[in-house]
Amino acid sequence: MSPQTASSTLAQQSPAGGGGLPRLLPPPTSPSPFTGPADGGLAAHLRRHGPVPYRGDAGALIADVRAAGLTGRGGAAFPVHRKLEAVAAARPGRAIVVGNGAEGEPASHKDEALLSAAPHLVLDGLQLAAEAVGARRAVLYVRGDLRERTRLDAQMPERYAHRLDRVAVEIVSAPGRFLAGEESALASLISGGPAVPRFTPPRVFERGVGGRPTLVQNVETLAHLALIARYGPGWFRAMGTPDEPGTMLCTLHQADGSAGVAEAAIGTPLADLLDLREVSAVLVGGYHGAWIPAAQASALALSNAALRPAGAFTGAGVLAALPADRCGLVESARVVRYLALESAGQCGPCRSGLPSIAAALAELAGGDPGPQVLTDLSRWAGLVEGRGACHHPDGTVRFLRSALSVFAGEVRHHQRGRCSGASDLPFLPVPAGPSTDADWS
Ligand SMILES: Cc1cc2nc3c(=O)[nH]c(=O)nc-3n(C[C@H](O)[C@H](O)[C@H](O)COP(=O)(O)O)c2cc1C
Ligand code: SF4
Repeated sequence: MSPQTASSTLAQQSPAGGGGLPRLLPPPTSPSPFTGPADGGLAAHLRRHGPVPYRGDAGALIADVRAAGLTGRGGAAFPVHRKLEAVAAARPGRAIVVGNGAEGEPASHKDEALLSAAPHLVLDGLQLAAEAVGARRAVLYVRGDLRERTRLDAQMPERYAHRLDRVAVEIVSAPGRFLAGEESALASLISGGPAVPRFTPPRVFERGVGGRPTLVQNVETLAHLALIARYGPGWFRAMGTPDEPGTMLCTLHQADGSAGVAEAAIGTPLADLLDLREVSAVLVGGYHGAWIPAAQASALALSNAALRPAGAFTGAGVLAALPADRCGLVESARVVRYLALESAGQCGPCRSGLPSIAAALAELAGGDPGPQVLTDLSRWAGLVEGRGACHHPDGTVRFLRSALSVFAGEVRHHQRGRCSGASDLPFLPVPAGPSTDADWS
């Protein structure tokens, strides 16, 4: 499935800094010199947004970021100003900033869309974040294949020629693994080790790359930061909800098999983003996210406040509408198998717990389950939760529990050796080859 990396029909054309969408992605066409062509090039970027609005002082941007209420777009929605403040408190010059473009989640394409269409917004954000925390080293950490496709290396000399950057940017390739974007795995790889998570504390903002205080922000977060620096917190808050301001990029998997990236205001009804006809359930928040029955999803909006009561959260903006002819249990078993294979195998929950869970779910999905399978799943889920060095077991258990609850009817079918899926074509994207232990670097 090849996703459309466009700003979608949701986006109405509007000039940069205006009141409409898209904000991050260039408009689908280029009607005026003001907006410029959607080619991701520096000339178009400068026409649309102008030069990097440096503040001249470390810390000066942080108040605007706090007033804007910007939260991270890499999954956890953590307030950005709090990390900026923590890293800025380090001894001057010691901090490092990293833009996280690992996009390890196979169902997510929003960082790729952003880095293709608006790389300079991300790179401006990296510079502004470096200034805000007083960092003298900046790294852009991007999945290797994505680095090539987005031609990122070619953008850098042009920026140097225009003297846009005050801190040299090093691009580091991330391995194509689910965990490679977890921030302690990222810090390990950039420090010269394997991209596997490590036990915390210390958190990377205290001791990250090379033992230095490290600010890690998702690339989309950096792009929002670059816009807030230009157009201000009031402009940023003109979209979204009072508690969750702004827009976010979403990867939308429609039931007809098409996929695309759209920029949407937080608070947009899910039914405006996904066609929910002939859909049984919606996966929200990706493979560490949760399933919601389609009827319930059609009344919910894209915000953590709206999704929380349904046990879900926006995560990194992955939304997938499961076609009514697929079995949610079979789909979930494929994803859990993938998640179990993607663990770094360092901790007990991942070494034995996730493989056991994956095997039991596969047994259930296969239609000939033993009498103990649900009891085993529930017991193992309880045993692995909260026991890993990172949140991988917890995210996997969240996904598993929502599958068992939302597809409870299907579970009963399978216990009787039946399956209501009319099509066995895989729907959710899961990398074809088995994961190996060999590619952590
Ligand atoms: C298993 C796992 C995988 C993650 N993968 C990514 C990723 O690919 N990209 C990303 O930006 N953040 C990822 N994160 C979140 C990062 O650890 C970190 O919180 C984030 O990059 C911080 O940026 P933000 O605050 O701007 O979202 C992952 C977290 C976990 C637990
Ligand atoms: S919990 Fe699992 S994925 Fe996380 S560090 Fe431990 S073994 Fe690796």
